[in-house]
Amino acid sequence: MKQIHIYYFSGTGNARMVARWMNEEAQNAGLESRVINVSQNRIAREMTPDTMLGFISPTHGFNYPPLMIYFLLRMPTTKEHQPVFLMNTRAGMKFGPLYIPGLSGIALWLAAFILWTKGYHVAGMRSIDMPSNWISLHPGYGPKTIVAIVARCEKKTRHFARQIYSGKKIYRAACDIVQDALISPIAIAYFLVGRFILSKTLYATRACNRCGKCIKECPVKAIYEVADRPYWSFRCESCMRCINNCPQRAIEAGHGMFAAIMVLVYTFVISAFYRYFPVSKWGIFNSDSFLDKLARFTLESFIVLVFLVFCYRLIHHLRRYRWIDAMITYTSLTKLKFWRRYKAPE
Ligand SMILES: Cc1cc2nc3c(=O)[nH]c(=O)nc-3n(C[C@H](O)[C@H](O)[C@H](O)COP(=O)(O)O)c2cc1C
Repeated sequence: MKQIHIYYFSGTGNARMVARWMNEEAQNAGLESRVINVSQNRIAREMTPDTMLGFISPTHGFNYPPLMIYFLLRMPTTKEHQPVFLMNTRAGMKFGPLYIPGLSGIALWLAAFILWTKGYHVAGMRSIDMPSNWISLHPGYGPKTIVAIVARCEKKTRHFARQIYSGKKIYRAACDIVQDALISPIAIAYFLVGRFILSKTLYATRACNRCGKCIKECPVKAIYEVADRPYWSFRCESCMRCINNCPQRAIEAGHGMFAAIMVLVYTFVISAFYRYFPVSKWGIFNSDSFLDKLARFTLESFIVLVFLVFCYRLIHHLRRYRWIDAMITYTSLTKLKFWRRYKAPE
C-alpha cells in the first residue's frame, strides 16, 4: 500500500484524535495519508488499487452512528479487494487504577459486512476506549481521568497503526464477539427508536444568547431555530457536540421533562389507545411469542415517538413562561454544577 485514506466522524473529538494518530503513524511509515471528515465529505475520495482505507467513528447505541453507516453504504464497489481497517471509539471509564472498556455491539461487524459486500478486504478491526462523552447520561470526567485514559488510548492506537501499516491482520475486536452478539438487539432498537427519542431530550435554556454555534457546528444539521430558540429535529444523532461545546453552557438534557412525558404517554395515551383499539381482542399481538412482543413494542414506541414530538414542540413554545422554563431547567441533571462537559483534549 502506498496511500491511506482515513475517513472519520466525530462528535466531541475522540474519533478525530484517533484519526490523527493513525495519520501520523502512516506518515512516519512513509505512506501518503489523508484524513477525511465524513460529515463534510459525503462521497469517498478517488482511490487507486494501492490505497488502504480506514474508518473511525464513535459508537452510538452499540452501533456506528447512522451518518457513518450511510457513508459506508455509499462507498463504491471494488474488484481490487482493497484493504480496510475499522475502528470505533467507545465509552472508556476509569475507576481508580481500573480501566473499564465500552461496548461495541454491532458497530464494527455491520461496517465489516457492508464493506465486504462491496468487495473490500477487512484487514483490521480495533476498538479504542476513549473517555465517554455521553453527558446526557453521566457527568463528565475530571481532567486527570481524561488525560490518563487518552494517554493509554494513544499508545494502543499507535501500536495498532504500526501493525496494520506493516501488513499484519489484526482482529482484536473479534475477542468481544459474544458480548457484541448479546447486545445486538439493543443496537437494533436504538437504531429504530432510541436515537429519535434521545434527539428530543436536548434543549437550550434562557442562558442561550443565540450565537448560533450549535446550529453551525452540528455535523448533521439537525438544529434550527423555532421561535427564536434552537430546536432539535429527529435528524439529531445525539453526538453531544452541541451540549459539550456551547460557550454559554446553555444546552441541557431535559431529564425531568422526558420522565414527565413518558409517565403521561404510558398512563394516558397508550392505555387510551388500547381502549379504543383493543388489538388483543381482535386476535392481534395477544400471545407471549417473541414476534408478538416485538410488534407490541414497535407499536408502543411509535406512539411514544408521535406523542414525544408533539410534546417537545409544545413545551418549546410554553417555555416562554418563566415557571415552565424553570421547572424544566431545574429538573435537568446536566444543570447541576458538578455535571461537567466533555471535549477531547487537543
Ligand atoms: C448517544 C451516545 C451513545 C453512545 N453509545 C455508546 C455505546 O453503545 N457503547 C460505547 O462504548 N460508547 C457509547 N458512547 C460513547 C462514545 O462512543 C464515546 O465517548 C466516543 O469516544 C465519542 O467519540 P467522539 O468524541 O468522536 O464523538 C455513546 C455516546 C453517545 C453520546
